[in-house]
Amino acid sequence: MSIKGKVAVVTGSAQGIGRGIALRLAQDGADICLVDMQIEKLQGVAEEIRKLGRKACAFQCDVTNRSQVFEAVDYAEKELGGFDIIVNNAGICITKPLEKISEEECERIFKINVFGVLWGIQAAAAKLKANKKKGKIISARSIAGHTAWAMLGMYSSTKFAVRGLTQAAAQELAPFGINVNSYCPGIVDTNMWTEIDHGCAPEKGVATGETWKASVAGIALGRAEKPEDVAAFVSYLAGPDSDYMTGQSVLIDGGIVYN
Ligand SMILES: NC(=O)c1ccc[n+]([C@@H]2O[C@H](COP(=O)([O-])OP(=O)(O)OC[C@H]3O[C@@H](n4cnc5c(N)ncnc54)[C@H](O)[C@@H]3O)[C@@H](O)[C@H]2O)c1
Repeated sequence: MSIKGKVAVVTGSAQGIGRGIALRLAQDGADICLVDMQIEKLQGVAEEIRKLGRKACAFQCDVTNRSQVFEAVDYAEKELGGFDIIVNNAGICITKPLEKISEEECERIFKINVFGVLWGIQAAAAKLKANKKKGKIISARSIAGHTAWAMLGMYSSTKFAVRGLTQAAAQELAPFGINVNSYCPGIVDTNMWTEIDHGCAPEKGVATGETWKASVAGIALGRAEKPEDVAAFVSYLAGPDSDYMTGQSVLIDGGIVYN
């Protein structure tokens, strides 16, 4: 079973988990529309995908801007000849105790992590319905969206919110053959975790690197997660083997949170 010939839009794919997902879906046979604010990095990932023998295009977009997200899906269809899958992966983290979070920070993280996902769900649903096609909508959540973490309270609450969007969208879109699911990674070795580690150090009074080390030490499978680990699960959600699954938010964390 494969996604050969399908078209996937992956947001936040300039680096980290999004890049890993884009490369994996391309290896699985999909053509990829890469979406991010970092256009130069996107061009680099597009080159990597073309070397895998698949088509790729890059679209600069801020996922907080609803029209731009709709334009990204239109662009994918125009450049790659169709649209089947969206991965709403773009996200940010703010590492601070709740007492120190500002109004601007609250707005920013909700606009990217929650509204950005909602615009992706809307844009994908509109396109699939207009084309009378079945499809897959897949969004990023986190272990922190199952159990809230101190220092990541605002981030956790955005990821809890995506669970609600996933469950409601799954019910609304099931009659159209559109599956909606989320993936919940654990502690993945990306820029985001470097930022979390740096944010925790002064607040906890520990050296840089200590929070990372201590967190990885708590993983049952004994190592940090790689973008490829997340991408392997997203590959399942994007493909036909998950056709009977919808509304779920599944942990893929090496054994941190048990649900
Ligand atoms: N790293 C982890 O341990 C971890 C764990 C659980 C969940 N996640 C989630 O996985 C997703 C990817 O995280 P990552 O670790 O690869 O992070 P990252 O910081 O390495 O990459 C995030 C990407 O999103 C893009 N982005 C940010 N804001 C954007 C916006 N407004 N519009 C368009 N693009 C935007 C960035 O440019 C970047 O390329 C996020 O949703 C994150 O919350 C990460």
